[in-house]
Amino acid sequence: MTQSPTVDTAETTEGGRTAEAAAAPVGGPPVIRTQGLTKRFAGGQLAVDGLDLTVPRGSVFGFLGPNGSGKTTTIRMLMGLIAPTSGVATVLGAPMPQSVGRVLPRVGALIEGPALYGFLSGRDNLIRYDSADPTADPGTRKQRVAQALDRVGLAAAAGKKARAYSLGMKQRLGLAAALLQPRELLVLDEPTNGLDPQGMREIRALVREVAAEGTTVFLSSHLLDEIEQVCTHAAVMSKGRLVVQGTVAELAARAQGRLVVRTADTEAALAVLTEHQVTDLRVGEGQVDGESTALSEDALPRLCAALVEAGVRVRGFGVERGTLEDAFVALTGEGFDVAG
Ligand SMILES: Nc1ncnc2c1ncn2[C@@H]1O[C@H](COP(=O)(O)OP(=O)(O)OP(=O)(O)O)[C@@H](O)[C@H]1O
Ligand SMILES: [Mg+2]
Repeated sequence: MTQSPTVDTAETTEGGRTAEAAAAPVGGPPVIRTQGLTKRFAGGQLAVDGLDLTVPRGSVFGFLGPNGSGKTTTIRMLMGLIAPTSGVATVLGAPMPQSVGRVLPRVGALIEGPALYGFLSGRDNLIRYDSADPTADPGTRKQRVAQALDRVGLAAAAGKKARAYSLGMKQRLGLAAALLQPRELLVLDEPTNGLDPQGMREIRALVREVAAEGTTVFLSSHLLDEIEQVCTHAAVMSKGRLVVQGTVAELAARAQGRLVVRTADTEAALAVLTEHQVTDLRVGEGQVDGESTALSEDALPRLCAALVEAGVRVRGFGVERGTLEDAFVALTGEGFDVAG
């Protein structure tokens, strides 16, 4: 499939720009706010449990959690597709689901498995979708559809029947539908689902682009590094409950860094580090790492010298920042596994 020029251009910025730099300034009343938001399904399943969420205007907000942690259920409540069992949700300042008619025209949304007409082309699906939107200007429809297809890299496949689209192409088409008009808020449920690594990079670049235009983006993901790469803020869910929310920088800072020594001589390195009272030591493939918070500034050069003196062939040495996954494990005491 030929990539559109827009997506190609955006692609070159991947890694070169931080999420913070790309996002519009954060401020004003929150774009999404929930208080005690709870959903218990008819079968008794408590999918979302007392959620208090605050999504600042201008943020790229990552809604992170393992499979089954309640992300889609929350998003469906925010979009007024299902009613909460208790608690309240406001979107763009108005209560949901009571204000769907007023709120939804200002929101672009992609929710799990976008509904498509298989017998229509990608382009005709978007034309049909846009025609059903009373706020959409028919005069600019063709042009807006073409632009949206171009932005998601579907320009070349626009004439193909949607039933012949791959999972990733369907996902792109759903994203194009959310981008047909400029919106104040974009809600994307697992936008990179079904995409290959290149496609994921394109979508991340697109999210940054949309954020830089001033749209607040709320996206769910179970991929921690994806959230770290694209989001300014994040909330972490586990089994229907909010574990933590804040800026991505704050959350990652909660994950303690580790002292990492890269070497083939792991046994010798382990002995030296043990001798120097480094705790919580772990031996891995070609590396030994340990707790770094108790180490003073001048302990590091001394440790490095001791390793070299002991004949350890040091290939790499330093304190490496913890990941969001480390923070998640530290906060919940659990691995990032599927909720029960
Ligand atoms: N319609 C429903 N009826 C009963 N239980 C449901 C329904 N929809 C979701 N659930 C349950 O609610 C919990 C949360 O599901 P949800 O789809 O919100 O998770 P998720 O975080 O979006 O997961 P994933 O990452 O797999 O998309 C799960 O235990 C799921 O089985
Ligand atoms: Mg989901």
